[in-house]
Amino acid sequence: MKARMIEGGALTDKELVEAGKILFLTDADIYPNAFGSSENMGEVFPLLARIENGLFGAENLLVAKDDKGNICGVLVGCNSNFWEKGTLARVFSQKGIALPEGAVDAENNYFVYESEHEKGDYVLCLCVAPEYRRLHIGKELLLHYLKGKKEVSLECLADNSGALAMYGAAGFCVEKEYDGYSAPGTSPVRVVRMIYRANSHSRYNY
Ligand SMILES: CC(C)(COP(=O)(O)OP(=O)(O)OC[C@H]1O[C@@H](n2cnc3c(N)ncnc32)[C@H](O)[C@@H]1OP(=O)(O)O)[C@@H](O)C(=O)NCCC(=O)NCCS
Repeated sequence: MKARMIEGGALTDKELVEAGKILFLTDADIYPNAFGSSENMGEVFPLLARIENGLFGAENLLVAKDDKGNICGVLVGCNSNFWEKGTLARVFSQKGIALPEGAVDAENNYFVYESEHEKGDYVLCLCVAPEYRRLHIGKELLLHYLKGKKEVSLECLADNSGALAMYGAAGFCVEKEYDGYSAPGTSPVRVVRMIYRANSHSRYNY
């Protein structure tokens, strides 16, 4: 399917809600802990998108829309962005929603960590709505984001074979594997860090 690529700055609040709901499905640990439910993440996402230089700032969002204007996938690409401790408590309270139990842990051990480690350009998350998967929307989002960039890194769960295949075909190489963030009381998840360089070999045509 040929999707339209839209920069996040052009999105309405309603579209940001949809984008947040899709991003909730990126992984089974971080987003469920931080936000509790996709409805919650959708509710607070427009507030996160308005934080200047924030990880989820609108300028970091790239969205794919189908021919009817429905949002079908979202990529968040960061560089030197910021996450202040207490952000989740603040946006949940602004929306009058109870802070999910795992929010502070996810915030301190993932979002704050992500914002404190200078990585240059990196993909924080990429997610395609389940009903649009395997239609090359993830690939198109990724290729659009990579255009003109010299080096990009990302982290991906080591058992996410579909995503690893997509990143590998786009020219990302595995740099290292380590234990990543997981919810308290659960076993650590294995994460791979991957690097793309503009001269990497890619199976895809740019
Ligand atoms: C990973 C994800 C973004 C891929 O998006 P997508 O639009 O479904 O993938 P595409 O159709 O663009 O696939 C591009 C290539 O990636 C590989 N691929 C993607 N999904 C795959 C799967 N489930 N199994 C095997 N290969 C897969 C294939 O090589 C595919 O090329 P092909 O269809 O020509 O064989 C999507 O499955 C998703 O949102 N998953 C949940 C969130 C997630 O895992 N995000 C990545 C976190 S780092």
